[in-house]
Parts: sequence; structure tokens; C-alpha cells
Amino acid sequence: MCGIVGYIGDKDVSSVVLVGLEKLEYRGYDSAGIAAINDGKLFLKKRVGRLSNLYSLVNGQPINGHIAIGHTRWATHGQPTENNAHPHTDCKGRIAVAHNGIIENFQELKEELEARGHHFISETDSEVIPHLIEEYYDGDLVEAVRKAISRLKGSFALAIFSTLEPDVLIGVRKDSPLIVGVGDGEMLLASDIPAIVSHTHKVIILDNGEIAVLRKDGFEIMDFQGRRREKAVTIVEWDSRDVELEGYPHYMLKEIYEQPEVIEKNLKMYLRNNEFLLLKDTNLRRLLLTKRSILIQACGTSKHAGMVGKYLLERFARLSTRVEFASEFRYMQPVVQPDTLIVAISQSGETADTLAGVRMAREMGLEVLSIVNVRDSSIARESDYVIYTNAGPEIGVASTKAYTAQVLILTLLALELGVLRGIITPEESKHLINELIKLPGKVRQVLDMDAEIEHLAARYQSYNDFMFLGRGINYPTALEGALKLKEISYVHANGYAAGEMKHGPIALIDKNMPVVFVNPKTSVFDKSVSNMKEVEARGGKIIAIATRGDSITPQIATEVFYVPEIDETLVPIVSIVPLQLLAYHIAVMRGCDVDKPRNLAKSVTVE
Ligand code: AGP
Repeated sequence: MCGIVGYIGDKDVSSVVLVGLEKLEYRGYDSAGIAAINDGKLFLKKRVGRLSNLYSLVNGQPINGHIAIGHTRWATHGQPTENNAHPHTDCKGRIAVAHNGIIENFQELKEELEARGHHFISETDSEVIPHLIEEYYDGDLVEAVRKAISRLKGSFALAIFSTLEPDVLIGVRKDSPLIVGVGDGEMLLASDIPAIVSHTHKVIILDNGEIAVLRKDGFEIMDFQGRRREKAVTIVEWDSRDVELEGYPHYMLKEIYEQPEVIEKNLKMYLRNNEFLLLKDTNLRRLLLTKRSILIQACGTSKHAGMVGKYLLERFARLSTRVEFASEFRYMQPVVQPDTLIVAISQSGETADTLAGVRMAREMGLEVLSIVNVRDSSIARESDYVIYTNAGPEIGVASTKAYTAQVLILTLLALELGVLRGIITPEESKHLINELIKLPGKVRQVLDMDAEIEHLAARYQSYNDFMFLGRGINYPTALEGALKLKEISYVHANGYAAGEMKHGPIALIDKNMPVVFVNPKTSVFDKSVSNMKEVEARGGKIIAIATRGDSITPQIATEVFYVPEIDETLVPIVSIVPLQLLAYHIAVMRGCDVDKPRNLAKSVTVE
């Protein structure tokens, strides 16, 4: 969950690295550091806290060199202190390493190295790496790196350089993402594409067990045994605008507002002339038509998308669908029939628990379809099939456009399977396609009411406890709305199935805990109204998400936010948008760092 950037070339190396780290700060921001070779000597600066602290330290200090590495940290071993910040160096300050991942056997290695006279200054696992390389260095840096990493157990993406061989930048990848940017007279290393895209669109995605040896004018890729590997250079579609704020105060708000165009882009790709095209790959279509059940495994927001998918796959495709937290799935000795398709949902495609679930499923001989946003990510590459959500880079830690894109893909999947299995009639299919075509406009209508939501947020931003309730297909929306609020405003917010409230949570109801009730027009509307009345009868303040024209809800709720009417199938996409905006505005009003909330990171690549 840390961010790594490396550069070798003729630009201002500290600027390339620091600006690159800025684009990766969503991966972790406990501390930051940069190492470079300046007039033949190692230049090393680190600061606790945000990257801005490091900027002020480095600015104005010219670095007369052509190589640098940088790191922004999400602490795993050791407090966020300057000593624990990366990059770490060897005893003599001639080798620098930035690391993302966890070295599981670092304690024994540290003891072995200390016994051989090495001196450590940090509490981190990562610091053993430069000392191991120092131990093995015998005039060949690549060879020393190969020997050092052969001793490591765990996950590691590394950026390495040494004053001993100042013309080579080395990248290593095992279980944590690392990509190479192929420039013109320059090369880059980074944890993710946003750090690279303003310098080059030519990218090499390193696979597990690969080492990249980069020089200004070329690169060599090899495996951990030193055997050369031929790798394709791919062209990334993103451009630098995708990773800029473009006038928005926060990436999260920009990404909330990008949702209509993301929906339009996916409809253009997967829907044409009244025909679903998601399963145009005949192998994937055949796979799905032979499966009798689906098991979805994911984390956080992606798991909530999977829960919406369950309702739709069971309703339209009549496929028994189970949804599990990936962090539970991977340890539960699951009983899964061979005719079950495993579906992994992940924005980043790097979430450790979800990736582990994919690997376990494949070891069990099960087939895996992944629904992923980041192209060529680990989960995408290790699945049998992948459907991309095409949401573009999602920089805000709180997932918004990726979530609605995930739900849209699952909706299209359920509908296409329903048609292929003859469960949805041609008339129903035509109606639902018409509703899908209206979807971007419906979301725009909600966005046009942002000011109304901001006023609502102002009235409730001082409350410290919220309950979110929803029934049926609105239940995952309630969970997702609660997660959005808690993760960026640090407000205690819990989501429950509305029908579950009577079995305990109703004891919590009082005037100090607003209840957000997700109850747009669906087949469970009336039932939910009864739940709403139970809350009102106990003095609860209700903030209801209702459908325009609903005259019942305003008689019960304290506040009502109306969303435009749309077929129940698509309600989860429209009704999450006001909750995303509510969470955003409350967090801003509470002075929280919306894009980089405390303790969180965008991509949880450690267990
Ligand atoms: C979403 O707002 C959260 N930041 C988090 O729950 C996230 O959804 C989860 O970590 C899964 O990430 P993934 O989709 O990249 O796998």
C-alpha cells in the first residue's frame, strides 16, 4: 500500500520523483522520502506526514545527478517516523532501496546481518534489503540484488540504485505491483500508472519474479535466476488530465461527477442496437452458460457491488449467487461445486485478500472471472477471464465511479445472461435497455441537486452517529453509503438490512443518531415504509432517499432527498450518488482530508 517512484534520465530527478509520488499519495501518506545521486554522493531526504513536508525540504536543493527513487509510506512495521521512512540505505550509504510490501522473515535476516556487523537505524522490515545487497555486493549490483532477494520471504516491489553503479536503476516485483515507464532517453519505475503517464504512455507491467534493469537508453528484464525475459511494451490509454484535479477541489468530487460519462462509455462498449455485448467473447459466454452458480469474493465497496450483483443475477439469470468477503473466503475452507464460477471484483486489481481468493480458487480447480478497473493488474492477469469497468484512474481513496461502474457491469451481466437463458423476454429486454440508456441522464439529474445535498450535509455534519437502512436491492446501497461516510469523515456509521432493525439495532434509535433510509420505489417500498414508521415512532430523525413523486415518505421522514424514477434494476446506481455526495460534503465540513483519509490507502496490497 505504499507508493514507489524511480527515475533515470536527464530531467530534474527530484521533480520527476516528487510529482510522481504526489500522484501515488493515495496509496499511503504516513511519511515520504527521496534518494538521489548528487555529484556522486547519496542525497537522502525524508519527512514524516504528507509529501508536502518533503517538498519544502527538497525544494531549492539542486541535484546534479540523473537517478532518484522516492517512496510514500503506509506504515506496516514501525511507527511513521523519519527513521522508518523510505528509502532505506546500507551501512555505507551507497545503496538505496524503496520497498512496497512485507518481508515476513526480516527479523531473522536482521539478526544475521547485525551479527555480521551491519548497523540498523529503523524498526522496519524493509531496511534489511539494502544491507543484504551490501552484503552480497561484489562488483555487480544486479547479481547482488538477485542474491539478496533470493533470501526474502513475503511480498516486495523494489526500486534500487547505488552510487557504486550510478547508471543503473533496478526494479524488482514479487506480489506487489511495479511497472516500468519506457521513455525517450529516460526510464521510470512506479507502483501505478498515474506516476508515469505525464512522461510516457509506453509501459511494461512487471510480472511476479521479474527484475527490470534500467539505463537511460534501454532496459533489460530478467527473472530472479537472471534469465532474460522478453516483455511487451503496452500503450496506456490514460492521459495526464485523467490524473489531474481539473478544477475540482478533490479527486473524490471529480470522480463522483465523472460517473455519467463512465456509464455512457460502458454502455457504448457493451450495448449496441438493443443488443448486449458484454459476453461477446464466446468462451466467456460458454463458460457462464455452463455454470450453475456464482460465488463473488471482494472487499469493501467492491463487495457491496457484489451484493447488488447477487440480487440481479438471481432475479434475471436465476443463478444461485453467494457473496463473501475475500478476507473471509480465503481462510474458510469453502465448499464450492466445480460448476460454480468464482467472480472477483476489485477496482485496483491488487487487493491482497481478493488476489489470494483468486489464487485459492484456481488451486481448487475453479474458473475465475474478474471485474476490475486497472488494466493488467494482478487480479486481472491471474484470472481466467476479465471484464474491465473502464472507469479511468480512481485517485480518491473512497471508491465512487468504480463502484457504480462495477454495479453497471454486474447489471449488464445479469441481463445478458437472462436473455441468453431465455428468462428475460424480448419485451422486458427492450424495456430494460431503454432504462439503461436513460441512466446517465438520471445520474446527472442527481448531480444537479448537489447544492441541496450540501445544505442537508450542513444540517447533519455535527452528528457523530448515523444508521443507514435499506431493504432488498437497497440494502447494499445502505452499506455502501455508511462506508462512504465513515471512511472519509470518521463518523460512526453502520448499515443494516431494514428488516433486521427490529432484531437489535432499533435499540440505538434516538434523536442523536440520524437514520438514512434508502427507499426509492422498488418492490419492497411498502415494507420499508413500515420500518421507517418504527424509527419515527421512537423519535428517530430520518433522512430518506425517495423517488420523485413519492407522497408517503415526506409524511414520515424529517428530510427527503428525491431521486428521479428509474426501473428498480437500476435504482442502486442512481440512489448511491446522493449518499456519495452527502459523505463528501460532511467530510469537507468536518475538515477531513477527503482524498487521503487517515489510516486508509487506495489499494490494500497487504493482508
Ligand atoms: C472503498 O471506498 C474503500 N476505499 C475500500 O473499501 C475498497 O473498496 C476496498 O479496499 C477494495 O478495494 P479494491 O476494489 O481495489 O479491491
